[in-house]
Amino acid sequence: MPQTAIELSAIEKRYAAHTALAGVSLSIAPGEFVALVGPSGSGKTTLLKTINGLVAPDAGSVRVLGEDAGVVPVHILRRRIGYVFQEIGLFPHLTVAENVAITPRLLGWEPARIAARIDSLLGLVDLPREMANRLPSALSGGQRQRVGVARALAAEPKIMLMDEPFGALDPVTRDQLGTDYRALHEQLGLTTVMVTHDMSEAVLLADRIVVLKAGVIVADGAPGHLSAQSLDPDVRALMDAPRRQAERLAARLSESAA
Ligand SMILES: Nc1ncnc2c1ncn2[C@@H]1O[C@H](COP(=O)(O)OP(=O)(O)OP(=O)(O)O)[C@@H](O)[C@H]1O
Ligand SMILES: [Mg+2]
Repeated sequence: MPQTAIELSAIEKRYAAHTALAGVSLSIAPGEFVALVGPSGSGKTTLLKTINGLVAPDAGSVRVLGEDAGVVPVHILRRRIGYVFQEIGLFPHLTVAENVAITPRLLGWEPARIAARIDSLLGLVDLPREMANRLPSALSGGQRQRVGVARALAAEPKIMLMDEPFGALDPVTRDQLGTDYRALHEQLGLTTVMVTHDMSEAVLLADRIVVLKAGVIVADGAPGHLSAQSLDPDVRALMDAPRRQAERLAARLSESAA
């Protein structure tokens, strides 16, 4: 097994006059669960997309499982890297089963193998089998997100990139999906990079938190270590948010119980 699952070296990406990534280097070990956080527009989605080749960097290099991502054929990258989109991204005119089967079909799997894979994936993400023939419009938001995860896992990738996968869900469903996904990450031995706006989610789910600000990594470390270590006031505020919120909640609840 390669030493690193994902290796980004000095990545730069510009859109016309705007610099989205200004020299990002990041090394992620096999099996790590990384949360990528930062303000809107800081370059999180752009960074994810450089990993799976949806965005070509202007400078720098990307290595995936020890190989230069710039030279690996795109269908091989697709099999190695699952991607859950920021907007749910299911095709509305395709059933659940057809959505999940997209990558296996592209890879030319036999129909029987695809059917078996759909069946096992629905089980894996805890969706009832009878939902296989429904259209996405006949599912709840949380169920659609589970289909998104199943689809990304279809070709047995070793790496999962998830762009705010559980955004726009109620807190209970979000919590459940996050916990379920973390269990899948362990069970399948995945390497995961998950973009989230929710610091509590990042702290609870990830082994490591990477903070982007204006296209630069301004903090990188285990959840318990980031806050004290950072010189950046925005990072300290971000990292302190879950603790402050927990303290305020505890104070409020004991107040109203008294
Ligand atoms: N295709 C594009 N063309 C031009 N500018 C782009 C393009 N994609 C992204 N950008 C710009 O690059 C910057 C980073 O965008 P990106 O989508 O990576 O941010 P983000 O951190 O994912 O934000 P959000 O939290 O809102 O999803 C933004 O200023 C954005 O407007
Ligand atoms: Mg984004």
